[in-house]
Amino acid sequence: MIGVFDSGYGGLTILKQIRELLPEYDYIYLGDNARAPYGTRSFECIYHYTLEAVRYLQQQGCTLIILACNTASAKALRTIQQHDIDPQQVRVLGVIRPTVEVVPSLTQTGHVGVLATPGTVASDSYRIELMKQNDSLTVTQLACPMWVPLIEAGEHESEGAKYFISKYVQEIVRRDPKIDTLLLGCTHYPLIQAAIDAELAKAGGRRCTSIAQGEIVAQSLKDYLYRHPEIEQRLQKGGECKYLTTDDSDKFADAATLFLGSPVCAMHVDY
Ligand code: DGL
Repeated sequence: MIGVFDSGYGGLTILKQIRELLPEYDYIYLGDNARAPYGTRSFECIYHYTLEAVRYLQQQGCTLIILACNTASAKALRTIQQHDIDPQQVRVLGVIRPTVEVVPSLTQTGHVGVLATPGTVASDSYRIELMKQNDSLTVTQLACPMWVPLIEAGEHESEGAKYFISKYVQEIVRRDPKIDTLLLGCTHYPLIQAAIDAELAKAGGRRCTSIAQGEIVAQSLKDYLYRHPEIEQRLQKGGECKYLTTDDSDKFADAATLFLGSPVCAMHVDY
């Protein structure tokens, strides 16, 4: 089985694209909604929470786990890969690597913006990894601490959310007006992408395109499975998906159904 993990609802934006491209596999989606957001937490805390989720998904039979969370990918992935898992038993992949491999080819001006959680920005992972791909890029990062709490609370279409969407988009454009590629470096942000684009249009000046990660990560997973037939062969292919949450299952099912566009049953889990 393929496990897809996020602190909350954000990873559904990745799962949706993965299942569209690779519908034949069985999936488990796990949202740690009870402890979201992760983005403002310490390194130790994010590592500890992410490791618990990885271990739980492994116990459920996942042999491939996608951390569909930039914060966990930035703060916990490497340590887990190097110290906590046996790659013969389970592979754990993140979302930052596949994203930075694509983004440099999308910019004309060489000016890239990254909107992400405070944790992802503080880790500097995007700047470091983007510069490895192309050291002539100019990378501007901005933390958007209010966006995930608003999305997790289902308040992302409220007036309050509009204020904070405008605030962060205007701020990054002000910091570097030459940005033409704006990466949404948090898997929750596609839920407000239309509002972000509307703000970008208002900001005027250079045309700037916002980039969500779902399709990029899905394509990268497809390539990965093609390159690793030994992993691909161990995956079950029933086309099923289970939805698990550490918070209230009805609340999760409602939000997920709304977002995925088809009815979803969710189950509460403790680990
Ligand atoms: N969706 C996650 C990310 O991509 C984490 C959001 C959070 O829990 O703060 O960073």
